[in-house]
Amino acid sequence: MIRKNFVQQTEKAYAKLNLTLDILGRREDGYHDLSMVMQSISLCDNVTIAPGDGLQVKSNLHYLPVGRKNLAAIAVERFYDGLGQSAPGMEITLEKRIPVCAGMAGGSSDAAAVLRLLNCAEEMPYTREKLKELAEKIGSDVPYCLMGGTALAEGRGERLTPLPAMPDCWIVTCKPKFSISTPELFARADQTRIAYHPDTAGMIAALKAGNLKDIAYRLFNVFEDVLPDSQRSEVREIKQALIDAGALGASMSGSGPSTFGIFAEEEAAQLAANLLQQQYRDTFLAKPV
Ligand code: C5P
Repeated sequence: MIRKNFVQQTEKAYAKLNLTLDILGRREDGYHDLSMVMQSISLCDNVTIAPGDGLQVKSNLHYLPVGRKNLAAIAVERFYDGLGQSAPGMEITLEKRIPVCAGMAGGSSDAAAVLRLLNCAEEMPYTREKLKELAEKIGSDVPYCLMGGTALAEGRGERLTPLPAMPDCWIVTCKPKFSISTPELFARADQTRIAYHPDTAGMIAALKAGNLKDIAYRLFNVFEDVLPDSQRSEVREIKQALIDAGALGASMSGSGPSTFGIFAEEEAAQLAANLLQQQYRDTFLAKPV
């Protein structure tokens, strides 16, 4: 059972962006082998766990699943299943800021924050490696979200190699109004000949050199070319608006549709965010973390 000294605790769950996303092939298990350079950003949800009756999830978004369908609740169940125990009464509160279904791993990051909080509250029953194995069972992005920072994610997304931190910069993220189903986009990718791929080695070299311009120049996500025409045009328009406002580079994140630009200067980034916010409510100014 949860420890007697367990008290309410809050953890930040950071959003992630894909600096690169490449699909290497479809696997026998239905998943795809990927190669992605990931970056966490300061845009975050606050995840709070507190003793409660049963397992409840509350959030400031009325349309989020609140019961056991929420990844945060699944994380609680996996955590205690792994210890051979049933989950104790607990209330999870998600203060959401990361746009939902947006390619920024909001749900995965909330689940990872729950795993970190529980491991701490229960005085570390899992090693870091075991916690990562648990994360893998919850979702492909959850292992990365446990770790955060700058990393190369391979395999399903669970094979992680830390990379040098991104140089200081400003990032504007903007979510177009349409939503994308990740499995559907993977299915479209299977039916498309992907002509262009990111220069992943070049991106890693740019990170090692700490060269922001080279990093921004190499942003690339193969999913952009897989989007239906109207969605691809909207992502392109946002990218162009970011570039026109002074971004060094722009790309879509994950399976989208969130699109982001990297800026060297705060002022230009703030102006770009203000401009895009007029059309897109889910526009945020952030920094790498
Ligand atoms: O692992 P997760 O549940 O987040 O994945 C959601 C969906 O994305 C999967 O059901 C699968 O269709 C697709 N996916 C994939 N290959 C990956 C990760 C996700 O095909 N490496």
